[in-house]
Amino acid sequence: MTSPDFSVDAFERTLTRVAALAAGYLRALPEREAFRRPPDEVVRRFQTAPLPDRPSSIETVLDDIERDILPYSLGIGHPRWWGYIRASASPLGMATDLLATTMNNNCSGSAQIATFVEMTVMRWLAELIGYEPSAGGILLSGGSAANFVALTAMREAMLPGSRASGLMGIDRRPVVYVTHETHSCVRRAVEWLGLGNEALHLLPIDSQRRMDVAALERAIANDSEAGRHPICVIGTTGTVNTGAIDPLARIRDIAKREGLWFHVDGAYGAVGAALPELAGQYEGLADADSVALNPHKWLYVPYEAGAVLVKDRNALTRAFATQAAYLEVQDDDYFNGPLWFHQQGPQLSRAFRALKIWAVMRQIGLEGYRALWRRDIAAAAELRRLVLEHPRLEPVGVTGLSIACFRFVPDGIDPDMFNRRLVDRIQKDGRVFLAGTTVDGIYCLRAAIINFRTSTSDTRLAIDVIAELGVQLERELSPANVP
Ligand SMILES: Cc1ncc(COP(=O)(O)O)c(C=O)c1O
Repeated sequence: MTSPDFSVDAFERTLTRVAALAAGYLRALPEREAFRRPPDEVVRRFQTAPLPDRPSSIETVLDDIERDILPYSLGIGHPRWWGYIRASASPLGMATDLLATTMNNNCSGSAQIATFVEMTVMRWLAELIGYEPSAGGILLSGGSAANFVALTAMREAMLPGSRASGLMGIDRRPVVYVTHETHSCVRRAVEWLGLGNEALHLLPIDSQRRMDVAALERAIANDSEAGRHPICVIGTTGTVNTGAIDPLARIRDIAKREGLWFHVDGAYGAVGAALPELAGQYEGLADADSVALNPHKWLYVPYEAGAVLVKDRNALTRAFATQAAYLEVQDDDYFNGPLWFHQQGPQLSRAFRALKIWAVMRQIGLEGYRALWRRDIAAAAELRRLVLEHPRLEPVGVTGLSIACFRFVPDGIDPDMFNRRLVDRIQKDGRVFLAGTTVDGIYCLRAAIINFRTSTSDTRLAIDVIAELGVQLERELSPANVP
């Protein structure tokens, strides 16, 4: 083969095969391991693959994908994939993402249709969390990016001019309030912003693993008295460890009174605000200055799909807008549109992420989402109930939203070491995938269920598998059997 085939006919044939591969993959997923490591010979093939020097036929490339990549995908979407906070994605989102890449729009802004689709999605997301439809916001790669963009807007709002002069001229040390349950990406965002992670003031949590707001009040007073500058408090709706929701209404009141920026990391759970039965816990969210929210989590949209919402769109403009001769447009230009997203965030070239989000939100609808969220929450509660009933398992911490933490109770063996080994064993076994974490100093297994494929039989099977592997491991590790 001498030249690559870019023809539309070849593309159409490619799509036919890709469609079969994709459907075959999804059909086989429930029956295979939830995680399967690529074997050594496959890894070696990638590690030794030379830079291609000649074109390959499309069939050859697809053959390689079928043989060496699809069988070893991570397995997110398996009915018992409950690892980290990784959601099953709607197949419609996958298919429409292919249409988005076919159009290959660069969504920096302009009068193109993608701008209107993204504006619609942002308006819908705002409505979901109780924001005014006129709020600002853009789509990003995920929660880490969304928290970073929100905090960049915060820095310019709270330390005006820092964008121009950096942090050199600042005479008081800025302080950002979080808890140790706040996601680690917030720490990195604060580092990237040049505030230094010592700007983070870690507050204690209460028995429900939510921010201790009395401690927040005391800390603001003490820091101010010591000459530091409290600038921001970050609440979380759905902490990554246990799904706890910080007391947002009280945090809001304190932030307002003390003149702090109030940011909410709702990457996982912000959308729970649309569940009437949880409304009380979400009071205050609609008053946050900024919110991070991940459609690639509880909106069941395929990666990557993150979003940041800000109460005042100008806060993003002040933090990100820039001038360049080659980007200039006049108000009445044919190409000019209602919004230039590149003036509102860190990216110039941007993918058409809005299409898959728009499609999946239309497919599921608010009532559909509510039903799915309730199912996920019920599945986590069911898991906890089964754990409580089981003689060898015990719950750890509290169950928040759709996360349940628990551990195996081994006989005469260090439980932390044991449960670490058990997580590894479970992941290798493949019938269930979950990860571990530490809650209240106790190492435990953690199941985060954002999965429309999970059914009651899956939670029951998972408990049986975990207990079976636990007993097996206990036998191997019990002092009598260790040589
Ligand atoms: C509460 C919370 N914040 C932030 C993130 C980071 O999001 P991403 O992985 O999309 O960058 C996560 C991811 O699980 C999360 O649960």
